[in-house]
Amino acid sequence: MIKVSPSILSCDFSKLSEEIKSVEPYCEMLHIDVMDGHFVPNITFGTVVVRSIRKITDLEFDVHLMITNPEKYIEEFAKAGSDIICVHAEVDHSILKLIKLIKKYGKKAGVSLNPDTDLDLILPYLRDLDMVMIMSVFPGFSGQNFMPKVLDKVKTLVKARKIHKAKNLEIEIDGGINKDTAKSARDAGVDILAAGSYIFKSKNRKKAIAMLKGAK
Ligand code: DX5
Ligand code: ZN
Repeated sequence: MIKVSPSILSCDFSKLSEEIKSVEPYCEMLHIDVMDGHFVPNITFGTVVVRSIRKITDLEFDVHLMITNPEKYIEEFAKAGSDIICVHAEVDHSILKLIKLIKKYGKKAGVSLNPDTDLDLILPYLRDLDMVMIMSVFPGFSGQNFMPKVLDKVKTLVKARKIHKAKNLEIEIDGGINKDTAKSARDAGVDILAAGSYIFKSKNRKKAIAMLKGAK
């Protein structure tokens, strides 16, 4: 079964808890986009928001750290209530060291790859990882257009997962997901669809999430 991870970046933040409650019965996870204004041009929010919303939902928190120095903040995000902590492969740190740090706090470890980042960079760690997030837009903003060229990377990763016997590894795709691009992503083999504007711009969240999962 495909999982959906609504990205709260597209929520109306003046009523964040209502927004979360509007998707909670239909989805499996919540995608939390942390941006530092340095790794990406935009600034969003940090552990204060994660800690507050941890009190109102048991959804799995899929925390996407678009920050230059994840090493410094992993502990705080772990303690704030994250379940999966995902760092970017492009940061200037040892990937293995970051994975070990995330696991030290008992959290699932993910690595995210920008559209132009080669999969080879993370292949040695597939068995250490719980999740790989394939970016289908350049990170920084919601509402961008899906880049179909990343589907080849998803397909290669599906094969690599088998070769490396990393059977618990989940593949997430993030950026520009709507009912059509979701189908291409599902067909390519993704396990988790992160989606912001498609879900939160829709009045009927139940239907929007069902469409992402393949309802006709
Ligand atoms: C982009 C973020 C995405 C974004 C997705 O930098 O990482 O998670 O919120 O938004 P949509 O689905 O609108 O492209
Ligand atoms: Zn994201």
